[in-house]
Amino acid sequence: MEIYVDTANIEHIRHAASLGFISGVTTNPSLLAKESPNIDIKERLLEIHKLVGGHLSVEVNSLKADEMVREADQILSWFPEATIKIPMIPEGLSACSRLAKRGIPTNVTLVFSATQAIAANNAGAAYVSVFMGRLDDVAQNSEQTLLEVGDIWDIQGYSSKIIAASIRHPLHIIQAAKAGAHIATVPYNVIMQSLKHPLTDKGVELFVNDYEKMMAEKSKLV
Ligand code: G3P
Repeated sequence: MEIYVDTANIEHIRHAASLGFISGVTTNPSLLAKESPNIDIKERLLEIHKLVGGHLSVEVNSLKADEMVREADQILSWFPEATIKIPMIPEGLSACSRLAKRGIPTNVTLVFSATQAIAANNAGAAYVSVFMGRLDDVAQNSEQTLLEVGDIWDIQGYSSKIIAASIRHPLHIIQAAKAGAHIATVPYNVIMQSLKHPLTDKGVELFVNDYEKMMAEKSKLV
């Protein structure tokens, strides 16, 4: 399972990219708005792509298919490798299918059920983003939903990629991988949290101390 970073924060992206295991970035209007109201979206997207390369999903803001396609064309004029992120609404499916017919990759977002996921796949989405945290927020078991989607993909042999999104904690990453998601898009803080283990820290401290002790004793011998 690939890991993308789910943010528009340039410092977080820079650090995450330097770790060497991130293969893409997803953004959305809320993540861009969190940065600054003055953000130059085109510049930010180009900067993000320069840092990470790989996948970059950029979301449209309109709710009408014609407008979504127009927005997608504008995004692609800045950045031709963009994956266009489109909300899982009927107009969004229509935009998705029109873009797919032109060979443009889309990421259908805000998917909360297997039936929505099937529709997104059939409309030609290259990626289908199933939201975990927001399902759990309303007491629907996101792991179950993702397992169901993963099973359907296996049975049907669908080629679109499942993205586990709205990841809130490291356990979601494990659940996503076990359910067969191809990608988990993870906020920076959760990525960092998922790398930590107290026994790793303790082990590193012990190795460093023992090495220093050995070097101190060695220096006494010369
Ligand atoms: O990947 C979607 C994500 O940005 C939404 O996360 O935590 O707002 O549900 P959250």
